[in-house]
Amino acid sequence: MAERNRASRPWPLPPGGWPSREEAKEALLFQPMDLGSLRLKRRTWVPAMVPWRATEDGFVTQANLDWYGRFARGRPGVLVLEATGIRDIPSGPLLRISHERFIPGLSRIVQRVREESGGETRLLIQILDFLRIRRRPEPSVYFERFFELRPEHRRRLEALAPEVAALPEGELRRWLAVQGQDLLAGVLDPREFQDLVYGARESVNDLHLPWIRDLPRALPSLFAQAAARAKEAGFDGVELHYAHAYTMAQFLSRTNERDDGYGGSPEARLRLPLEVIAAVRAAVGEDYCLGCRMLGDEVIPGGSRIEDASGYAEAFARAGLDFLSISKGGKFEDAKPPRVGEAAYPYTGPSGHECMPTTRIGPPGPWSRNVPLAAQIRARVRAAGFTTPVVTAGGIAGFTQAENLLQKGNADLIASARQSLADPDWFLKMEQGRGHEIRRCTFTNYCEGLDRRHKEVTCKLWDRLFTPGDPIPLSKDKKRRLLPP
Ligand SMILES: Cc1cc2nc3c(=O)[nH]c(=O)nc-3n(C[C@H](O)[C@H](O)[C@H](O)COP(=O)(O)O)c2cc1C
Ligand code: SF4
Repeated sequence: MAERNRASRPWPLPPGGWPSREEAKEALLFQPMDLGSLRLKRRTWVPAMVPWRATEDGFVTQANLDWYGRFARGRPGVLVLEATGIRDIPSGPLLRISHERFIPGLSRIVQRVREESGGETRLLIQILDFLRIRRRPEPSVYFERFFELRPEHRRRLEALAPEVAALPEGELRRWLAVQGQDLLAGVLDPREFQDLVYGARESVNDLHLPWIRDLPRALPSLFAQAAARAKEAGFDGVELHYAHAYTMAQFLSRTNERDDGYGGSPEARLRLPLEVIAAVRAAVGEDYCLGCRMLGDEVIPGGSRIEDASGYAEAFARAGLDFLSISKGGKFEDAKPPRVGEAAYPYTGPSGHECMPTTRIGPPGPWSRNVPLAAQIRARVRAAGFTTPVVTAGGIAGFTQAENLLQKGNADLIASARQSLADPDWFLKMEQGRGHEIRRCTFTNYCEGLDRRHKEVTCKLWDRLFTPGDPIPLSKDKKRRLLPP
């Protein structure tokens, strides 16, 4: 997979083939449909994208309002608000819905989206839990503060560097801090080596940590309370974040080896996600739109594959979810080591490249790359007798491409993240027969690089059109425009 990402041949953009206004009127893409109790005006979807515009303590800013207002002006059928934290803990400039105090700000986004879309766009919020992850430490800090020296370390050193095996503890820690990774990999336990090279990261398998053991008790009510707040704030529905590197996806993963009834078998891995759905449903009521984002394939060794995901999807449909939004990869397990002082980012390894494919990815290229997963999941859900709509995303940036996917029954809704970022009006322009005016995403992930560094996300195509002195809001570094032209 890593090889494939080094492929140097960029794939040409999917053919424009834009429809006339009359053709667009006939297209399935622009037909209304139901999503649970919601009536959608069209089948276009802007999935969650974190823009890093909240305050340091998770409140909505003017920049958030402008960002969502701008997407709403393009009138997608559905707009999903970025991954928003359900726990009342410091999480940097990520939006939070972990307390009543966040409701007024979030309501302002709802209001703004209604106004800008003329009431045509349905606004969902993606709600998320994540486990603690530390920045990669300086080796000296790691060995001084975090490393627990045990007899087995000295035993391993006797084989690898006998001259230091008996050094006094302080001296040995200082010596270890200046050694290369090859030696350290032989001295430290795999988990200790990971903490040193990636930064310490909790996982659902850490049953020795009381708060990790307690997740099945804590999460249903945390999700339920967050969803109730979303409803109070006026959102049209909630998307549970069961995808990528975060807590719920870890429960669904084949790598979940918990032996407390919440891991180890497909039924046990599903148990907490189903308990969360039940708790959220009880909190928001039967007629509120509730769905999830989940992985069709984790793309990591030992991780869940499409066969697992299809079974999960059927169970979620049976549990009454109103939609299933299918993503792929985006895991920590195969991420690149971050730089010292930075946190690992789950989109830097092969699974991350599958999640947000670029024009440099290997065959079959980035276009509709993840659609087969959605198609298989949809077929399984339909075969089980459910009509639950399935959303597909990943390299969708052309009209013929999107329309064919719907016509063939590969998915029910077309999500486009980066193309919508490059041009938030792109769906509207297609519908109005103005496809030739679309500013087309180049799929080279400048935006993703900003997300990685938790910098305000912008698109390189907007920045090109930046003229110093323009009366537009600029990023903190004053070099980039915060809104598209
Ligand atoms: C800047 C950025 C932020 C993203 N944030 C989220 C997020 O908060 N939640 C999520 O589920 N996916 C997130 N994604 C992934 C997208 O929703 C989408 O699945 C992915 O980019 C592939 O679709 P695309 O090819 O249309 O861009 C993000 C993507 C980008 C580029
Ligand atoms: S920065 Fe690049 S990949 Fe991201 S939306 Fe803009 S053109 Fe597309």
